[in-house]
Amino acid sequence: MALPPGARLLGRYPAPGMHSLNAETVWRELTRAGADRRHPWRVVALCTQGDQGPQARHLILRQVMSEQRRLLFYTDTRTQKLREIDACPQVALLMWDPGHRRQLRTTGQAARLEDPRAVQMHWAKVPEAARRDYATVAAPGVALVAGTAEPELDLAMARQNFSVVSVQLDQLEWLELGHPQHRRIGWSWDAAAQTWQAQSLVP
Ligand SMILES: Cc1cc2nc3c(=O)[nH]c(=O)nc-3n(C[C@H](O)[C@H](O)[C@H](O)COP(=O)(O)O)c2cc1C
Repeated sequence: MALPPGARLLGRYPAPGMHSLNAETVWRELTRAGADRRHPWRVVALCTQGDQGPQARHLILRQVMSEQRRLLFYTDTRTQKLREIDACPQVALLMWDPGHRRQLRTTGQAARLEDPRAVQMHWAKVPEAARRDYATVAAPGVALVAGTAEPELDLAMARQNFSVVSVQLDQLEWLELGHPQHRRIGWSWDAAAQTWQAQSLVP
């Protein structure tokens, strides 16, 4: 559409960040977070069902496979979270971007990556210094021996202690805090139609 001379574009179009939002937009942002160390969604709260109730902890988002609706995380095979995932794979993930004032709430099914070649491919990407995180002789969360400041390490065991966790998402919910109003949209994965079904929600 041609605009008359002098017509002002400003105000005729949605303000930045207020363009129509769909599940693809969310996955694009998640993919950015998986690739960019400085993206605020890179640090994700993973919430599991513990023996005594809910448990939450932060993890680094390592990779996003949007086609498969999967997010990947690295952890120690011996951690509590993996025991909880084995007992109940239904988890929630939570992200917050303070710059854009955007929260993403998700739920999905978590599982350990079983394919040894895929795990090895991820292990190859772990920098030498970070491999120490998987090398403690005692399992993460075990009480330190009295009088010791640091846990004993066995670097030869680090690879064996390394696990990749995949979470396949089935619910997304975007909340953007704004003025004059907030915006909240949910999407549910429709397995039969193989698509995301959107629903705008009262914030
Ligand atoms: C910013 C940040 C990033 C973290 N990233 C990871 C991670 O990628 N993988 C991991 O296993 N633990 C990570 N942790 C530690 C976990 O939050 C948690 O303390 C640890 O994994 C033990 O959790 P669990 O006992 O519930 O299994 C991170 C902690 C912080 C504060």
